[in-house]
Amino acid sequence: MTTQVVSSIEEMRTHVLLARRGGESVGLVPTMGALHKGHLELIRHAKDECGRTVVTLFVNPAQFNQPSDLDAYPRPFDADLEACSSAGVDWLFAPSAEEMYSEKPLTFVDVEGLSDGLCGPYRPGHFRAVATVCAKLFAAAPADRAYFGEKDYQQLAIIRRMVRDLNFPLEIVGVPTVREPDGLAMSSRNVRLSPAERQTAAVLYRALEAAQSSDQTASRVLVSIARHVIASEPLARVEYIEIVDRDTLAPVVTVDRECRLALAVWFGKVRLIDNIAIIPR
Ligand code: PAJ
Repeated sequence: MTTQVVSSIEEMRTHVLLARRGGESVGLVPTMGALHKGHLELIRHAKDECGRTVVTLFVNPAQFNQPSDLDAYPRPFDADLEACSSAGVDWLFAPSAEEMYSEKPLTFVDVEGLSDGLCGPYRPGHFRAVATVCAKLFAAAPADRAYFGEKDYQQLAIIRRMVRDLNFPLEIVGVPTVREPDGLAMSSRNVRLSPAERQTAAVLYRALEAAQSSDQTASRVLVSIARHVIASEPLARVEYIEIVDRDTLAPVVTVDRECRLALAVWFGKVRLIDNIAIIPR
């Protein structure tokens, strides 16, 4: 099957609305391209649950904090199109920056509270840019369901809340994180790790698992267990490790309900994030 590439918002909306009018459900998978097995898992879920599938490919400049990170972001368009075709995706929506932001925007979506902690303070304006572009993508491809990875847990929580608060008529589906055999979460940024950094980056999952399998309930203790595992790798520089409420993302002192341990760690110039469920026994 050949995936049809669409670059105009109007054309994209027409395809989706016509499919839905014809009685088919439409699944939407927003991405920034450089598709890997994590993205393909979202596509698989969309294909399982919906008649038609749209993948969006837009490297959203507004959500990058460093121009160097934006410049270094991989853009293997032909391979992405090939991956979409092999996965049976109907449309690849790949608008230009001019199509998405034809004039300087005056409107933004700010999901307060949920954007304040975890990555928020380290990436000023990032979640506002993510929420805003997702709102624009939901308008361009008005699907029945949109699929997001738990890998970006804070982003998933923010998009869920935006959809509730603003009554977007679509369902948000969260998909568990896909990992490399050594546990490293798949990410488009992994290719920028040096061989030594790539090898040591598996420490993140070992740290998450060590905290998850502990029977301690004090967040302070669980965080120090994770911190201790990561400290065994000198190439790793911790930005934050925190335990938060699964839904509100508020910091938690004692794990007396399902929580999430989330972390951001630098390996050289590459910042990796990951998270895991912490469930009281
Ligand atoms: P991107 O980093 O390309 O990720 C697209 C989607 O794939 C996100 O929902 C992300 O959580 C999911 N994903 C990435 N790695 C994954 C993994 N290892 N397992 C499961 N899912 C994974 O996230 C973005 O793009 C952008 O912020 C976007 C939402 C497209 C807005 O610009």
